[in-house]
Amino acid sequence: IEKYAVIGNPIEHSKSPLIHQAFARQFGKQIHYERLLSPLDGFSSTIKRLQAEGYIGANVTVPFKFEAYQLSYPNLTERALSAGEAVNTLTFTATDIQGDNTDGIGLRNDIEGNLGFEIRGKNILILGAGGAAHGVLMSLVGANSLTIANRTLAKALKMITGLYHDYDVRAVEYENLNVRYDLIVNATSAGLTDSALPLPDRIFSSDTLAYDMMYGRETPFMHQARTAGAQVADGLGMLVEQAAEAFYLWHGLRPATSPVIAAIRQQR
Ligand code: ATR
Repeated sequence: IEKYAVIGNPIEHSKSPLIHQAFARQFGKQIHYERLLSPLDGFSSTIKRLQAEGYIGANVTVPFKFEAYQLSYPNLTERALSAGEAVNTLTFTATDIQGDNTDGIGLRNDIEGNLGFEIRGKNILILGAGGAAHGVLMSLVGANSLTIANRTLAKALKMITGLYHDYDVRAVEYENLNVRYDLIVNATSAGLTDSALPLPDRIFSSDTLAYDMMYGRETPFMHQARTAGAQVADGLGMLVEQAAEAFYLWHGLRPATSPVIAAIRQQR
């Protein structure tokens, strides 16, 4: 039986096993897919053990995406190279570890495929300049313009270095956001602590899609966007879509994602 795992710390709430098992069932495949809690200082030995035991692949989540990048270096896909030194999908051979990042394509497939919102030509605002924002940045550059807002402006400025020659990109502070956006992606971790971002209501309109990369709860960002009349989406679709891309990498098969998204939503 093919063996896979998702590794993080914490990991007990990960839906990845459920998602990958649902995908495998669509093709009548039997797989082993487990949740693996790695010690904070033991990620590399956890990975080496999986490789030695013949695992085919692993998904990597907080806080190990950067270490996963370093472990697979220089065996990285284009997507991983452009995702801010973060890897969320590992594929093992006896001698090699390949690193990929499916978060960006997962976000784009959810927004364009599931939500029917075309990114091309739109004015997009990304909130946050940490690991999550870096991971999805390049998947959004097909837009007309890209604005990064962050509490610490220096990090947003650094994030767009190297992009402004080829794209219409800028970095601003939350309080200085003055126009409305077609798509606003919350890639901050503020929702984890129920903290509100100091966002002016004027950035939202009734045809704004306000997308929170978090799922499982209504964040203050989602609440503000909804109250201001915007369309709101959480990150469950992205979670399932990034898993579908990893599944495709490992199995060469494209699973149907909508029934899996619907099933997880119903469980709540
Ligand atoms: P992640 O991997 O989840 O992106 P991270 O790299 O630590 O985690 O980045 C967290 C992001 O959320 C940052 O953009 C951070 O803003 P700063 O760069 O100014 O620290 C943002 N963030 C977290 N909590 C926040 C809060 N309470 N208010 C505003 N921004 C917050």
